[in-house]
Amino acid sequence: MSEFKPQIFSGVQPTGNLHLGNYLGALRKFVALQDQMDCIYCVVDLHSITAQLVHDDLKSQTRSITAAYLASGIDPVKHIVFNQSAVPQHAELAWIFNCVARIGWMNRMTQFKDKAGKDRENASLGLLAYPSLMAADILVYRATHVPVGDDQKQHLELTRDIAMKFNLDFAKKIKEIGKGVDITVGDQPVHAFFPMVEPLIEGPAPRVMSLKDGSKKMSKSDPSDLSRINLTDDADTVARKIRKAKTDPDALPSEVDGLKGRPEADNLVGIFAALSDRTKADVLSEYGGQQFSQFKPALAELAVNVLSPVNAEMRRLIDDPAHIDAVLKDGSERAGAIAEKTMKDVHEIVGLL
Ligand code: TRP
Repeated sequence: MSEFKPQIFSGVQPTGNLHLGNYLGALRKFVALQDQMDCIYCVVDLHSITAQLVHDDLKSQTRSITAAYLASGIDPVKHIVFNQSAVPQHAELAWIFNCVARIGWMNRMTQFKDKAGKDRENASLGLLAYPSLMAADILVYRATHVPVGDDQKQHLELTRDIAMKFNLDFAKKIKEIGKGVDITVGDQPVHAFFPMVEPLIEGPAPRVMSLKDGSKKMSKSDPSDLSRINLTDDADTVARKIRKAKTDPDALPSEVDGLKGRPEADNLVGIFAALSDRTKADVLSEYGGQQFSQFKPALAELAVNVLSPVNAEMRRLIDDPAHIDAVLKDGSERAGAIAEKTMKDVHEIVGLL
């Protein structure tokens, strides 16, 4: 092989309701990428037990993320949609990566530090090893491109570190079994079994902030439901949340520069721009000079128009769990076939009899 086959992989955890930020930042991007490469989209249920072990409704959360994938327009026939735990090779490769990655690498992860909080000794071992499972998710398909939010960049760098160490540590074996690919990393030639993944972070995706505090990201875990627009919110709720969104007393500026120091105004204009596939400058050329009392109804109407079809389809799917389970089963079988091949080679490379 002279090149890795281009392959997209990404995952979403089944914890909490998906919101507008997830839709604009992840789902819409996943949908757009379907025309460019083969895509594998996963519901990472094993990741969601790292921070909290016991969940009342993990199964229904997994179905709900799957419904969101499908309702947003991901095609589970052309591409692959499945849940992580149904393909046991993820956990198996993660174990091998636990032996590749160093404790020091894991201790440096900012997400671990944030999630573990002050009492790090009391965090689960799974939370520390989280990035190793994430690397396994991606590399068990030898995926080359991973659409993620900015906050996952460090985990992808770690994925590259794991791939690189594996490639170098097992260079001789990889040559022997003839499954490697000649790549250059920096200017170093490497005969690689695992590719160096590229994050896909750029794109139209804005950072969608809380509707109650323009300096905080819109979050599934914010105690105030008014801070976010959930994909399951009906039209009235979406409109009400936008009406109640925090703003300042000034009119909208006519230029993007005028949004500086006005995080709430910036956020609402950014949401408008993303929902209508326009630039903020373009939106302000139309709405500059208007009060929020005029802009908010326009934003609410736009949000309802864009989100209603997704919302309706999501509800329809959630009411048909048998269909969702069938989609996941089919996806797991197809994903499993690829993962099985990779693990067969990994056993050979590592020397597992
Ligand atoms: N850590 C990712 C997040 O919280 C979720 C995730 C798990 C993921 N495995 C992945 C994303 C593999 C991309 C690729 O957003």
